[in-house]
Amino acid sequence: MSILSRKLSAVKPSQTKAMTTLAESLRAEGKSIITLSQGEPDFDTPAWINQAAIEAIHAGHTRYTAVAGITALREAIVGKFKRENGLAFSVDQVTVGCGAKQLLYNALVATLDEGDEVIFPTPCWVSYPEMVKLAGGTPIAVPARAENGFIMSPDELRAELNAKTKWLMLNSPSNPTGAVYSQRDLEALADVLRDFPDVWILSDDIYEHLVYGDVEFATLAAVAPDLAARTLTVNGVSKAYAMTGWRVGYAGGPLELIKAMNTVQGQSTSHTCSISQHAAVEALNGDQSFLDDFREAFRKRRDLVVGLVNAIPGLSCDTPDGAFYVFADCRALLHKVTPAGEALESDMDVAMYLMEEAGVAVVPGSGFLADGFIRISYAASAAELSTACSAIHAAVNKLT
Ligand SMILES: Cc1ncc(COP(=O)(O)O)c(C=O)c1O
Repeated sequence: MSILSRKLSAVKPSQTKAMTTLAESLRAEGKSIITLSQGEPDFDTPAWINQAAIEAIHAGHTRYTAVAGITALREAIVGKFKRENGLAFSVDQVTVGCGAKQLLYNALVATLDEGDEVIFPTPCWVSYPEMVKLAGGTPIAVPARAENGFIMSPDELRAELNAKTKWLMLNSPSNPTGAVYSQRDLEALADVLRDFPDVWILSDDIYEHLVYGDVEFATLAAVAPDLAARTLTVNGVSKAYAMTGWRVGYAGGPLELIKAMNTVQGQSTSHTCSISQHAAVEALNGDQSFLDDFREAFRKRRDLVVGLVNAIPGLSCDTPDGAFYVFADCRALLHKVTPAGEALESDMDVAMYLMEEAGVAVVPGSGFLADGFIRISYAASAAELSTACSAIHAAVNKLT
């Protein structure tokens, strides 16, 4: 008999991490692989944030902290929510965890009973359905259509809401599509949610700072203040401040929920690293002007990759408004045959072919519950992106 729980046997490992690990092992064998499967900025954490962490070590901030995080960090988070989102929280209404990922998980563990449903539009981040299953709930995917820019419509949402629905999880800008819900999109969803007073909303704002051109970021609790009493807003320093490895995420929401999340965390990981917390204080309170430089660098890379991808026969993509991913339609490549005589029957086959033939790691769309697409991360240098796209182009040209 297997040692594994029934719950775990339904959970799949992350395909994003799987592709990145495969790329690393091929590289270790001496193959040259460009990794465009990663979900993290390639920039270094800004020097003054690193310095705050070094000072924290020297000042002896190396012991356990409060479960919800040090007061200075929670105050910085309260300040951030007020300044950037117009959201008012008390210090007790915010909490800090090991990345936004742990806060999402804590919220689900704290609230889901067996049979509870959690709705999210797809394509979605690989971890949503698996986290819901781990927490004992039932994931419900609502396919958002490519023709609608991967934005879930109010009618599509309404069709899935029922007495079993506990949460709606929203992620804007989206991983993997880069779609950004406008204020109007959120207002329309809020109108539907007002008819379902028992449904809670989890707003995953981790890519908040990565929106391009005239596009404006909006978050549900600010767009619909009457729903704030049942909204959890999750964010973190990973993507905006190039701090993925520091593992600092945060959340703001109703006190009862935050306390319950602290109970989950207090009995599992306790809190995130004390030194990282001090670095995050500096990230949130310090100079923010460099964020514009990061954003502009990503915008240029996005435009470069969108142009190169659309020039490849059989691949096509729209220009995403946010995040650092291009979600390319590869359905025209399906059933084509590789030089080795193998037919590409799925987006996984396409991704594996690109890894082997072009030496480029991308993530198959099926990992995000969207068959027939591949996700290309443009969190890489312009030179790497150009080389990778040329190699993909050459590999696609070899298909018959
Ligand atoms: C949509 C989404 N939410 C949350 C996270 C978690 O970020 P972190 O745990 O590094 O804060 C990620 C990371 O890839 C993500 O893509």
